[in-house]
Amino acid sequence: MSRQLSPGAMEAAVSLGHPLVVHDDPDAPPSRRQLLDAVRGAVAIISLLTEKIDEELLDATGSGLRIVANCAVGYDNIAVSAAMSRGVAVTNTPGVLDEATADCTFGLILAAARRLVEADRFIRSGADWIWGPQAFVGLDVSAGATLGIIGLGRIGMAVARRAAAFNMRVVATGSRAAGSEAAALGVQAVELAQLLAVSDVVSVHCPLTEATRHLIGRAELAAMKPTAIVVNTARGPIVDEAALVSALQDGVIAGAGLDVYEDEPALHPGLRHLDNVVLLPHIGSAGDATRDAMGRLAVENVRCVLDGSPPRTPVPR
Ligand code: NDP
Ligand code: DGY
Repeated sequence: MSRQLSPGAMEAAVSLGHPLVVHDDPDAPPSRRQLLDAVRGAVAIISLLTEKIDEELLDATGSGLRIVANCAVGYDNIAVSAAMSRGVAVTNTPGVLDEATADCTFGLILAAARRLVEADRFIRSGADWIWGPQAFVGLDVSAGATLGIIGLGRIGMAVARRAAAFNMRVVATGSRAAGSEAAALGVQAVELAQLLAVSDVVSVHCPLTEATRHLIGRAELAAMKPTAIVVNTARGPIVDEAALVSALQDGVIAGAGLDVYEDEPALHPGLRHLDNVVLLPHIGSAGDATRDAMGRLAVENVRCVLDGSPPRTPVPR
């Protein structure tokens, strides 16, 4: 187990009845060397998105490894086919973090649209101020602004439900955008080009794959409205971060809200100096009950596989 999880998840892990090796630094993941040493002889690895589970690491376990249980829904840190070809199950934690991540996404939408963090920084600066009709004017989210959801999956749909309550018009890509749940929420299925052209807020919710790396680059940013805001709570490399910084600097778009970064935990040097971007340290799923549920689900997947049963939430082949 590459980090301490919630107390409930730790209790569940202990109850598996196998010797448990837990990386004990609460503030940092194991180094590559520590990880390679720790997995030797493991039957199960409970990993986080900070650990690269590649062929070298799989080989370092020896021959008894039966499952890699990622404590995250995204599993772009795992060489899935390499694991499966060795007969190792790979699982993730879908579903239990949808609401927490959608809450965080909506926080970023509101914060970026209404310039809340910029206004907070202004107050903290101690500058003189008085109410003014043009002070910190931003995008009116609830006056019928259009939200474009790239990847209307579990989290995208949870964001769409919130958008309906905020009176937003929603357009989306992904197979579920043409389904009945989307229709009931008034979501319109569109192609990416149309989504970029009509959206006031573009929110990214697809997984990171070779097909989605730099899905939003210079050309896609240029295709957005100059008043548009980009929010990314999925994975950093889906957005070309250098192109985003230029677009924010040059007024190609109006703002951004980011929870994830292309070369995490490093940030493109330009980002920190921009007032029109809200920056979070990858906390989309960081609700207390959510993190507990993620940890318990990861452990439950291990229990199933070690008992010879199918795991609850295997990643798709
Ligand atoms: P889902 O699998 O439920 O949804 C993914 C969506 O992306 C689907 O609509 C899918 O469409 C779409 N999609 C897949 N491939 C592409 C593509 N090539 N181009 C455009 N869209 C595509 O995933 P979740 O909603 O559970 O999670 C989404 C991602 O969010 C995770 O992979 C993870 O990276 C990230 N995440 C980040 C968190 C954070 O802390 N910031 C927390 C939780 C998740 P289709 O149905 O057509 O395949
Ligand atoms: C995930 O689950 O993919 C997040 O990035 C962390 O919760």
